[in-house]
Amino acid sequence: MNHILCKGGMPLQGSVKIQGSKNAALPILAATLMTEGICHIRNCPKISDVYSMLYLLEKLCCEVKWDLEGVRIDTRNVRKCEPCKDTFSCMRSSICLLGALIGRERDLTIESPGGCVIGERPINLHLSALEKMGVQFTFEESKIHAVHHGLHGTHITLPFPSVGATENVIMAATLAEGKTILKGAAMEPEVRALGEFLNACGAKIRGAGTNLIEVEGVRNLEAATYEIPTDRIVAGTYLLTLAGCGGNVFLQNAPAKDMKAVLEILRELGVGLELSGKGIFVQADGHVKRIPFVKTMPYPGFPTDLQSLLLTVLTVGEGETILEETVFENRFKVVDELRKMGACIEKIDERKVCIKGVECLRGAGVKALELRGGAALITAGLMAKGQTRIQGVKYIERGYENICRDYKELGARITSG
Ligand code: EPZ
Repeated sequence: MNHILCKGGMPLQGSVKIQGSKNAALPILAATLMTEGICHIRNCPKISDVYSMLYLLEKLCCEVKWDLEGVRIDTRNVRKCEPCKDTFSCMRSSICLLGALIGRERDLTIESPGGCVIGERPINLHLSALEKMGVQFTFEESKIHAVHHGLHGTHITLPFPSVGATENVIMAATLAEGKTILKGAAMEPEVRALGEFLNACGAKIRGAGTNLIEVEGVRNLEAATYEIPTDRIVAGTYLLTLAGCGGNVFLQNAPAKDMKAVLEILRELGVGLELSGKGIFVQADGHVKRIPFVKTMPYPGFPTDLQSLLLTVLTVGEGETILEETVFENRFKVVDELRKMGACIEKIDERKVCIKGVECLRGAGVKALELRGGAALITAGLMAKGQTRIQGVKYIERGYENICRDYKELGARITSG
């Protein structure tokens, strides 16, 4: 699939099932490397970021098998696995492999994850935290070499609630000697899920999902079965698309309890919401109320991953909105593409834009440059008058199992080619 075509103007009707969470699945798949046996990760989303992570696990001699409920990871050969000398270094591993492996490997080299379109993505907070646990790092071009003689528990305070750094500390501390206290931890639900999975494997973690986490090191972990929670960002994507297009839709299994800030914004936009244990019923007329100012924040604030979606919805209607992105330094890449569709967005600085509502967007040829901006362009295409052609679909496939199928089932005029 290399492009998506959509014709806007249709309200959406029906029901859609929300997939498993990408940002919960990735660290948990990495964490299976800390166990001995066969982990069964249920409700694991079938997305390209997960396939990439599973590829890395196979390179580390894990056996990976999908079944009807999810994916089974057999780690029993990892210990004996002599990864070829550059296995760790040849893979552009996601940084959460560092935390998963450092408890087992006393000497490893991985590829620095590097930056991406939305920001430089530094890892200084990860490295300084792990150094406090006894790891020594050396750097050679794009490679990170980590060495230690046994990890020890310690007190760590994060100056910023980095999700990835929190996850790496939790994983490293789980197999360290003694107790680790982490203050200033990220409180995202995905951190809570990682703690739940590791505790199911025999870890002793308290407070995952709060800003104070205590980990009592253990000697080893058993494999476990764990169900990945549903994806609050995918659910938020669909809810914001409803706000922009109008319609009545039921989002099955949407994790409303983890979406308070998102649901608050949707109510301010004038969207009707009914929450039940089984999901969220949403009613919208496609005309959003103006919000004068909104900013993204670490959890429990409005998530940066839905900023592009909210920005898109606010391009239509009366009045102006100041939107501030406080988490990443370069997350307005979608603005130029939305301007091609008639949006009126003025950049105040690299972290703030002013959105002036227009009567409607018009279809155009646009390009996805990263995951959430790509999803926002589909929303724009479904809101716009006329046809929109979106390239760069591979970015969208990183995080959405089948966004075209989902919107099509809700009556949208959307095809992929
Ligand atoms: C996770 O990224 C998510 N990815 C991101 O989702 C999400 O946007 C982000 O958390 C914030 O919620 C996964 O979970 C796989 P951070 P992560 O460390 O861990 C700075 C998506 O669309 N920082 O909380 O990389 C960093 O530069 C993706 O699904 C440092 O300065 O995010 C950024 O400005 C995008 N030094 C801010 O903190 C560090 O050592 C947030 O980063 C680490 C981070």
